[in-house]
Amino acid sequence: MPRQTQGALLPPIPGPKVRRVDVYRTLRDAMLDGTLPPGARLPSTRVAASDYGLSRTTVEDVYEQLASEGLIERGVGRGSFVAEQWTSHPPGGRRKAPVRLRPSRRGVQLLADDRCQEPLLVRPFNAGVPDVELFPWRTWERCWRRAQTQTGRGLLNHSDSRGYQPLRSALASYLAQFRGVRVRPEQVMVFNSTSQALHAFFLLLLDPGDSLWVEDPGYPGAHAAARLAGASAIPIPVDEAGIRVSAGRLLGPAARMAYVTPAHQYPTGAMLAHERRRELLAWAEEQRAVIVEDDYDADFRYHGEPLTTLHALSGGNRVLYVGTLSKAMFLGLRMAYAVVPESLVEPLADVRRQLDSFPSISTQVALCAFINEGHLATHVRHMRRVYADKRARLLELLAPMLARGWTCGPSGAGMHFVLYEPRPGMAARLARSSGLALNTLSDYATAGVKRDGLSIRFGGLSMAELERGAATLCTAASVVQLERGR
Ligand SMILES: Cc1ncc(COP(=O)(O)O)c(C=O)c1O
Repeated sequence: MPRQTQGALLPPIPGPKVRRVDVYRTLRDAMLDGTLPPGARLPSTRVAASDYGLSRTTVEDVYEQLASEGLIERGVGRGSFVAEQWTSHPPGGRRKAPVRLRPSRRGVQLLADDRCQEPLLVRPFNAGVPDVELFPWRTWERCWRRAQTQTGRGLLNHSDSRGYQPLRSALASYLAQFRGVRVRPEQVMVFNSTSQALHAFFLLLLDPGDSLWVEDPGYPGAHAAARLAGASAIPIPVDEAGIRVSAGRLLGPAARMAYVTPAHQYPTGAMLAHERRRELLAWAEEQRAVIVEDDYDADFRYHGEPLTTLHALSGGNRVLYVGTLSKAMFLGLRMAYAVVPESLVEPLADVRRQLDSFPSISTQVALCAFINEGHLATHVRHMRRVYADKRARLLELLAPMLARGWTCGPSGAGMHFVLYEPRPGMAARLARSSGLALNTLSDYATAGVKRDGLSIRFGGLSMAELERGAATLCTAASVVQLERGR
């Protein structure tokens, strides 16, 4: 492109007093958006200084900076020109149409499944989240503030990818007390979330093309992590006793891993029966496979002793255990933990370093105090009663539906249960017509379900919201049933 011999008109800068930074930004932006096109000659520093009411030294300084960034070219006796190669815009200041960047084939595959989306607005009945109104904010704030002051500048640097050592010890004691999981702190790792732990496990232990069992219906996060690792998730049916190991043997004989939620199957609520636990562990032993045990809301079993974990039953050999504080505390905390054989801690920490280095140290230090001072244990005990009361009240409120043939799945733990439909198609119709935020069991299934139902997630709802939601649901159910002639 021929160079102009006249200096270009410089863009005006509004305001009473022009500063150096204003001139720099205005010229830079004008070059980048094509207002000053490639090859345009800039006025001399003397002219520009006079136009902008600045000293010549200041403008010289700006031109030098633009030249050092490659935006303009300067030559003694030649003047200063907008560099040819820098701007992506055509002369005359017209922008090109925005480029549409296309996802890769893997990206397209990842995007094909949007089931990991979580609702931003909690309402009946999408609320499988804790009741944050009852969280001890003041106590948490105190722990947080104290942690920041005590740790001071130590918070500002890199920290351990395995997690903050005192927190790993605190979690080991908490797990021994609450879940009967007896482990050394060296086996505990801190993650931002269950999903992140699953990503690290799958990336480290599965090759692209390897298969793993996932429960069907099941947790979408496990499918997502498998897809990202290039592994093939084989849906294994679940019944009232949990994952059907015998079906797994037929459907995925060569699987190298099984992802399960034994304490409270997600989303059916089933508890993995003793016999199935034995079968699953025997399968893993035969196949030299790994079991990932997701104990996501086992803190909230309402009656009796907590179930023995697969981790404890196996002696921790073939079971990687993962739990989250998203349910016990609050979702925005983004803290989860894993218990793994000591030989896997360093390799997993290495994967972790490659994913996002390490968990937030500020949060870990505060959490450590919250656990060590007993606040987590107190809160969990309190919330157990709260969720048990909410569940009991909800079942009372849903009595009209239960009287019309809907049945409630296992509901002895956690913040959700399933209402099974009396006749095929009713759950889906109700989910569409009620105006409530409802998912059906088949929304979580890959191979379909024998009998569909509504996933009722209630943890984060107030009693008033439960009452309003249940009334709307019962009315909508009676309309659907009238239309279908019961
Ligand atoms: C089975 C299961 N695991 C884990 C989680 C949440 O884990 P996190 O928030 O730590 O990723 C959920 C959330 O609903 C879940 O359903």
